[in-house]
Amino acid sequence: MGKTFYITTPIYYPSAKPHMGHAYSSIIADFFARFKRIDGYEVFFLTGTDEHGLKIQRAAEKKKVDPLKFCDEISQTFKDLSKTLNLTNNDFIRTTEIRHKKSVQYLWEELLKNDDIYLSKYSGWYSVSDEAFYDENEIEEIDNKKIAISSKSPVEWVDEESYFFRLSKWEKPLLDFYEKNPNFILPASRKNEVISFVKSGLKDLSVSRKSFSWGIKVPNDEKHVIYVWLDALTNYISALNYPDKNNDLYKKFWPASIHLIGKDILRFHAVYWPAFLLAAEIDPPKKVYGHGWILSNEEKMSKSKGNILDPLEIIKQYGLDPLRYYLIKEVSFGNDGNISQERLEDCINSDLANNFGNLCQRVCAFAIRNCDSKIPEKIQFQNDDLKILNEYTRNLDKIRSEIDSQNINYYIDYIVNRLFDANKYFNDQEPWKKKDDIIRLNTIVYTTLEIVRKITYLLYPIIPHSSLKALDLFNLKEKDIIFDTIKDNEFLKKGGDINKIDILFNKIERKND
Ligand code: ME8
Ligand code: MG
Repeated sequence: MGKTFYITTPIYYPSAKPHMGHAYSSIIADFFARFKRIDGYEVFFLTGTDEHGLKIQRAAEKKKVDPLKFCDEISQTFKDLSKTLNLTNNDFIRTTEIRHKKSVQYLWEELLKNDDIYLSKYSGWYSVSDEAFYDENEIEEIDNKKIAISSKSPVEWVDEESYFFRLSKWEKPLLDFYEKNPNFILPASRKNEVISFVKSGLKDLSVSRKSFSWGIKVPNDEKHVIYVWLDALTNYISALNYPDKNNDLYKKFWPASIHLIGKDILRFHAVYWPAFLLAAEIDPPKKVYGHGWILSNEEKMSKSKGNILDPLEIIKQYGLDPLRYYLIKEVSFGNDGNISQERLEDCINSDLANNFGNLCQRVCAFAIRNCDSKIPEKIQFQNDDLKILNEYTRNLDKIRSEIDSQNINYYIDYIVNRLFDANKYFNDQEPWKKKDDIIRLNTIVYTTLEIVRKITYLLYPIIPHSSLKALDLFNLKEKDIIFDTIKDNEFLKKGGDINKIDILFNKIERKND
């Protein structure tokens, strides 16, 4: 079996239309999926919507529509957003699909069979907005209202018959699992939080609700619906046709390489999910990465603050690739990051239009005029050329390993530095002064074109559409993008045509510039 890579985003609640935070997780996941594909992996990239539970039932009631109809509509806007963001997801799962229900009910029966589920009664706090149970010490009172300390969402008292999962039994196995898999929870800064939560003692978890009906029924006890998080987390295997463990998808892609999520839902993914899986004798995923928040005006986005950023508006104004570039570059991955229009415009003007777009245009125009629109044939590399070209060869494995540690910051810094070097090289070599040394002129052009190719391959996972436009220069297509070939210094076919390409990025005019 070849190299495989399975990456997931959270499945989003279709309780309201998607915002910038959802776009962020999805774009980052797409970045990794695309990188791994050009590095020769068979990739499965999954996203979708999480459609059961009280939160959705109430949102539908408020609109006076049937919950499934309500979900159909909003789930479609998430699907549309995947297209708009140019995501390469291989599947889009909805938890209201039959394939998913069957898989959740099967998992339930496995847990029951292994004596990990029992019937009792839950009395305690519940946040509908988080779909989470909270202990007394996780609650505070503000303005006479009880809220969860971590999320600030309101909680309500629940008192009902409920099935429980024996989470307490898995405390020790989980701690052993974290110990044996030190990279299971990333970034490292968040790992300790999770471990101390587990060490502080795990209580059994309520995994069914009886007071509403919008969910997957508990097998053989239809008065109960399965807790929405047990339902939702299972999407990661139901999309691989679990319980059929012998089908191709499951065999190739489970355990997942990485669940990419926001830090808000780390506990569900790093504690409950591996515990359910261990209890069902299924391997836990290899990694859970909890990224930071996208802030709007330095604050968390929320309906009540009215500062929700709509990715569609930004895309309409600036285009998709600038947004993708900006989110990947300016949000230090793992930490919170603010969205600012000014910084987005800086990225467009300096990195994309000047450093990348201009370089492509300059070398292309020069080659069209001085090399008869052809990739030069007679060349002879000198030290200066080899030095800049070999920079890529030397770093190939370093880039791979940084990507495997989700070090996006390294990757983008590397590209920004290479763009700087490339422009400096072209300026310093002054090919326009070499018109009576045609081999030298050719070599400088060839070297610069090779560098443009390499940088464009690196940029492809970030700005796929613009990268493909740039590769039109050489008639290269998406299937030609193979990461490993950035170590080749004579990849471009000598004598091949050079095509004129359109401006890749338009500069944003600003009053103060
Ligand atoms: O939690 N900044 O769905 P959800 C960055 N259905 N990322 C953000 C963000 C922000 N301001 N806001 C949201 C759920 N996100 C469950 C998940 S998975 C089995 C079930 C992203 O619609 C981030 O990835 O509330 C966060 O974890 C996710 O959206 C929460 O989406
Ligand atoms: Mg949420």
